[in-house]
Amino acid sequence: MIKKVSQDKLIDSKKLPQHLAIIMDGNGRWAKERGLPRSAGHMEGVKAVKRVISNCISLNIPILTIFAFSTENWKRPKNEVLYLLKLFNKALNKEKENFIKNNIRINFLGRIKDLPNSLIKQMNEIAKITSNNNKLILNIAINYGGRAEIVDAINSIISTVYEKKIKIGDITENTIRDNLYTHGLPDPDLLIRTAGEMRISNFMIWQIAYTEFWVTPVYWPDFDKINLIEAIRDFQKRVRKFGRKV
Ligand code: IPE
Ligand code: IPE
Ligand code: MG
Repeated sequence: MIKKVSQDKLIDSKKLPQHLAIIMDGNGRWAKERGLPRSAGHMEGVKAVKRVISNCISLNIPILTIFAFSTENWKRPKNEVLYLLKLFNKALNKEKENFIKNNIRINFLGRIKDLPNSLIKQMNEIAKITSNNNKLILNIAINYGGRAEIVDAINSIISTVYEKKIKIGDITENTIRDNLYTHGLPDPDLLIRTAGEMRISNFMIWQIAYTEFWVTPVYWPDFDKINLIEAIRDFQKRVRKFGRKV
């Protein structure tokens, strides 16, 4: 308990990221280092997801977006893809009550329609039953690609042009923003990537234009509160200029 209080004091509660996004990477390497199958790393990764959700709640971070499965992850071996899809279904089913109890609203970002029907059903139900919750907004990106998201936005804008609801010359950055999966939400303030890679891997490419980026070598299954606090402390030292002279 004493440890918890002193950890939280390390960060300025008035300068918290309002939207934290995470590229959860390194499950496979975590398992490999232990001589375990990759599936064991993914299973341990679910525990780290639960941990980061409760840490965001205790630190009062209102929006968390996590990258669970990319549009490019279908290129992995079929057994790994099937394992991951089953794991999502199982974990969502298990956490349903906790989402309700802890006042967490779940949104899913991605090409949901291309996922297995049983998973879609589970996702729709969870989104519906948590839709009025307001302690934490948890966006789970599944079958998500930043380029696919922009293509989907363009297609939906073109439909509204055909329906004569908007004129071609009137399309602005706000029109695109409002047609992304994240419509209505602010852009991430801080993006964390675990497992050391210095790349974006097609995550939120529109939304992160001015997001602060933090990379840690820690593998996702090992990511804990200390690592989160370290990232937030670094974020709080940064001068965000948005192109201005500060
Ligand atoms: C992240 O861990 C989980 C997903 C991409 C689904 P990885 O499975 O990418 O782990 P590494 O990068 O192989 O270590
Ligand atoms: C990014 O990790 C996708 C997710 C975390 C879901 P990857 O492991 O797929 O990224 P690359 O292949 O190393 O770029
Ligand atoms: Mg990876």
